[in-house]
Formats: sequence, C-alpha cells, structure tokens
Amino acid sequence: MINYTLITGASGGIGYELAKLFAKENHNLVLIARNEKKLAELKTQIQKQYSVNVLLLNKDLIEPEAPVQIFNYLRQQNIRVENLINNAGFGDYGLFHESDRNVQERMLLLNIVALTNLTQLFLSEMVKSGKGKILNLASVAAFMPGPYMSVYYATKAYVLSFSEALASELEGTGVSVTVLCPGPTKTGFEEASSLSDSNLFKIMHVASAKEVAIYGYKAMMKGKKIAIHGILNRILVKLISITPRPLVNYFIRIILGKTKK
Ligand SMILES: NC(=O)c1ccc[n+]([C@@H]2O[C@H](COP(=O)([O-])OP(=O)(O)OC[C@H]3O[C@@H](n4cnc5c(N)ncnc54)[C@H](OP(=O)(O)O)[C@@H]3O)[C@@H](O)[C@H]2O)c1
Repeated sequence: MINYTLITGASGGIGYELAKLFAKENHNLVLIARNEKKLAELKTQIQKQYSVNVLLLNKDLIEPEAPVQIFNYLRQQNIRVENLINNAGFGDYGLFHESDRNVQERMLLLNIVALTNLTQLFLSEMVKSGKGKILNLASVAAFMPGPYMSVYYATKAYVLSFSEALASELEGTGVSVTVLCPGPTKTGFEEASSLSDSNLFKIMHVASAKEVAIYGYKAMMKGKKIAIHGILNRILVKLISITPRPLVNYFIRIILGKTKK
C-alpha cells in the first residue's frame, strides 16, 4: 500500500492551498471536488513543481454512495489514506423560513454526513496501523449561534463537537484529529454561501486562504486538537464563552446582518 493524503474540496480556497502545501512537503495526493477542470489545472501546477503522485476524483460528496465509492476505489488502487482532510463545505445566508429546503439539506449532507462517513471509513485502517491524521474544517462559527446562517453555524458546531470527541477517544492510538476553525477567509465561500449582502466579510478581518492552510497544516502535523486561526478569532471565541447567550446572539445578528445600502 502507498501512503496518500486525501483532501476534499481541493478545487478552490483553503483545500486548494492545502493541496499545494502537502505536495511541497512530499505527500502523494488524492484530490476530490466536482469541478474537473480546476482539479486538472491544480494537478498540472503541482506536478510541474513537485514529484508526487496526484490522483483526481471528480465526485459530488452529497451523493450518499460517494464516500463508500471513494473508499473502495482507493483500496483497489492499493492506496492507504494516512492523512484525511475533510475540507469541502458551504453555507447559506438568509432567513431560515425563507430558505430553500434543498440547499439546507445539501449543506447538511456535505458539511456533516459526508464528513462523518469519510472519517469512519478511513479511521479503522488508521487505528489498526497505529498511524494517521485527520483534519476537519469547522469555523469560528462552531462556537456560537448564527442568526441568518442558522444551519451553517449548527453544522460547524457538529464538526467541532464530533472532532473533539473523536480526538479524545483516539488518545494513545497514534491517530490524531484536529479541528481547524478559521474566521472569514478570502475564498469562493462568500459567493457559494450567498454572503455578499451580509456585513460579515465587511466588518471582520478577512484572512487569506494560504495563511489559513499553513496554520491548519502545522496544527494537524502537531496533532493539536482545536486550532482557531488568528489572534482576533481566538479572542472572539474566549469572549463568547464568558458572555451571556442572549448578548452573543444580539451581536452575531449585527455582524451577520444585511449591509445598509
Ligand atoms: N472562507 C471562509 O470564510 C471560511 C471560514 C470558516 C470555515 N470555512 C470552511 O472552510 C472549508 C473550505 O471552504 P473555502 O472557504 O475554501 O470555500 P470554497 O472556496 O467555496 O471551497 C469549497 C470547496 O468545496 C468543494 N465542494 C463544494 N461542494 C462540494 C460537493 N458537493 N462535493 C465535493 N466538493 C464540494 C468545492 O469544489 P467544487 O465546487 O469543485 O465541488 C471547493 O473545492 C469549508 O468547510 C468552509 O465551511 C470557510
């Protein structure tokens, strides 16, 4: 079996930067996303610079069978996933009662179900061999309720809770689970989540995808359990933990509120 790092959502944003970083550090890669063209461009770019194997899987992770199909295919190819990065995800901005139920359901399937299934499929092998690392993408959103993005914030709270619990279960096995919590980051996320009307990316500091990827990579390699990117985000999370919940809701509603035109 040959060791690989699997990254979901590698066609853009944080996943794209993580792919380049892992290639630089000499990891063979399995890159997953729906956009075949962007994945192919990334593969060409990586292979011009680094001598690593890059396998592209053009998959929609919302499809219920996708995680098992990926797992079985990689087994047939004699590929062992030593690092799993569950990065693919998106949000949806607006009032929940006016939202599209299909969009909310797709978000739950991608941000929660696909992440959980991929983790379970690849984790057994990691535990058996006593070696492996998992990086799950949550967000600072995981630490608070998100008025106007209620489902997205709740999916990230799930990712945080699930990852922390797994990290605890796996102590002493040689397998680590890191949950990466970025704040607003300049990627395709703002557009994919229909966030252009919100104050969020206008009020908050916006990080680059590259700096978030570097921070996440280092945290994962160290086996850190919770990795909150940026000092301002760490202060925000701390403040939220000591602020009464109604006040937290009030302030987040202002931050996530609609920009005045
Ligand atoms: N940007 C932020 O402000 C921010 C902050 C905190 C946390 N995050 C989290 O960071 C992670 C990465 O997001 P990003 O900011 O890099 O956003 P992005 O630029 O929109 O990238 C999202 C990636 O997920 C892939 N993806 C989306 N739907 C998919 C599906 N159904 N099946 C397979 N792949 C799919 C996209 O590729 P295709 O479209 O080609 O499928 C793309 O590669 C997400 O989990 C997000 O929630 C982002």
